Amino acid sequence: MCGIVGYVGKRDAYEILIKGLHRLEYRGYDSAGIALISDNNDLVVYKTKGKVINLENHTADLNRSGKIGIAHTRWATHGEPNDINAHPHFSGSKSLALIHNGIIENYKPLKEELIAQGKTFVSDTDTEVLIQLIEYIQESHNCDLFTAVQMALNSVVGAYAIAIINKNDPETMIVARKGSPLIIGIGEDDFFIGSDATPIVEYTDKVIYLEEEQIAKINLKEGLKITDLKNIETTPIINKLNINISQLEKAGYEHFMLKEIFEQPESLINTLKGRLKIDTKEVKLSGIIDNVEKFRKARRIIICACGTSWHAALIGKYIIEELARIPVEVEYSSEFRYRNPIIYDDDIVIAISQSGETADTLAAIVLAKSKGAFLFGICNVVGSSIPRATHSGAYTHVGPEIGVASTKAFTAQLSTLFLIALSIAHERKTISNEYFESLVDELQTIPDKIREILKLNEQIKNFAKTFTYAKNFIYLGRGYNYPVALEGALKLKEISYIHAEGYPAAEMKHGPIALIDEELPVVVIATKNGNYDKIVSNIEEIKARKGYVISIVTKGDTQVKNISNFSFEIPDTADCFVPILSVIPLQLLSYHIATAKNRDVDQPRNLAKSVTVE
Ligand code: AGP
Ligand code: GLU
Repeated sequence: MCGIVGYVGKRDAYEILIKGLHRLEYRGYDSAGIALISDNNDLVVYKTKGKVINLENHTADLNRSGKIGIAHTRWATHGEPNDINAHPHFSGSKSLALIHNGIIENYKPLKEELIAQGKTFVSDTDTEVLIQLIEYIQESHNCDLFTAVQMALNSVVGAYAIAIINKNDPETMIVARKGSPLIIGIGEDDFFIGSDATPIVEYTDKVIYLEEEQIAKINLKEGLKITDLKNIETTPIINKLNINISQLEKAGYEHFMLKEIFEQPESLINTLKGRLKIDTKEVKLSGIIDNVEKFRKARRIIICACGTSWHAALIGKYIIEELARIPVEVEYSSEFRYRNPIIYDDDIVIAISQSGETADTLAAIVLAKSKGAFLFGICNVVGSSIPRATHSGAYTHVGPEIGVASTKAFTAQLSTLFLIALSIAHERKTISNEYFESLVDELQTIPDKIREILKLNEQIKNFAKTFTYAKNFIYLGRGYNYPVALEGALKLKEISYIHAEGYPAAEMKHGPIALIDEELPVVVIATKNGNYDKIVSNIEEIKARKGYVISIVTKGDTQVKNISNFSFEIPDTADCFVPILSVIPLQLLSYHIATAKNRDVDQPRNLAKSVTVE
């Protein structure tokens, strides 16, 4: 839930580390810090509360020399975000500095033991316990740092990606991971580390994804040595990165979120490329083709996900059940992993995760695997933990999503689910060839239809200004549009901090209707498909209580438009593809309400992009 970056080489580390922190800032941004072994062999640590820019200001007149360093942008779990709790943390002798992403769950008993041995602590973090423990082991066992780190990690419970530098060995960095991601970049004559590839890609495209419970010693002269916690050495596999630097820039947009909303027509084409064959009317997903018998015979599909990815999963349930006629259960990963779920060995468990690192989703699939299920991942970040833990899967291929609020990753998850539903339905012959082909043709038109909806941007921007006063919003939808209502509400909450709830429209009269008055904006997704007449009645019920209705309607609609206070039109499409269109105006609406309220849209308070802690 934070960003880690490190450098060992011949260049000045400071600039590389600060640039890396900016790239990683979306992962956590309540404090930032850096440790360098300076040219006069001092181990210096600079850290401040707040964003990376505060750290830059703080270090402006300080000694920033050094060819080796580590840096961290924090999302606090233990101890409030302040200068002292920020990383890096020193060991007691100040010879070692450590950065950490994750949680040391047994930090309390370890801390008590260390205090009993005479160690003192300056911060409230779980992280400081780890570096003090490492130094204590080093002293008491009279061993080298690598061995001490191995021993310490064997007594730690929890999740970690760590990096340590040592004043007494200024050409070496030690890194390790369990549960949190860590990547090592191999340069010409230097090494980089990062929580993801974004701080590395500028310097090298050769990377090693450190595996669970692996520890690496990176030495400028000796190179790389990787072992597990039992000291068994492994030969690392070098992967090639496929990220374009321009994907990491705002390209003239005010925020990454707006850029990512506008990227959706192209990003969708990338998701469908090579998979949706218009000329031959085929859907080709290698993850399904290679395991076709499993999908043909599956008794049940369980989808595990969190947040926006969970909303995509709900839409996945609707479309897979409708087209492929396999029962689908959708689970919050965090609930699934702890409730001893019933899993059969002919179940398919699908994990949906943009980051591929969400701790709860990763744990959910590890559990499902232990019970014999076949695992399929739908992830965006190539090489991340979830795709590596699954038997098969499909990448969404939309490039890095930097805005904390997910937009293009959501629509890419939907189109991947559409492809999955279509190919299973075709294999199981649960839909006619004509219907299959008409859906293949229709899916091809979606990017252009999104382009058309994006033309509403200025109109939505002007309209959004009216809602800066609002304290609450309700979002309603039925059928395929019910999960879109949940997603619209989540987007608004995340970035504008306005309270918003999504409901299946018919549920409104079972309680939430009590909230309706002339102050409460109610967003109703009322496209012409599905239960159109029913939703018209729901809108009438809101109007009868003087509610303010903003509707999303199909182009040419008059009935809902006439009874709404404001409407946005979207192009018509097949019922099952509506969510990928109806969500676009809701993304824009949240974005413009949030910017009108001067919110930090890309890095909203208390959130982080990748939730690698429980
Ligand atoms: C989306 O806007 C969120 N910030 C969040 O709900 C996110 O979707 C969730 O944390 C799951 O992340 P993942 O897709 O990377 O697993
Ligand atoms: N648990 C550590 C802390 O609270 C690390 C949190 C993080 O991953 O940023 O400092």
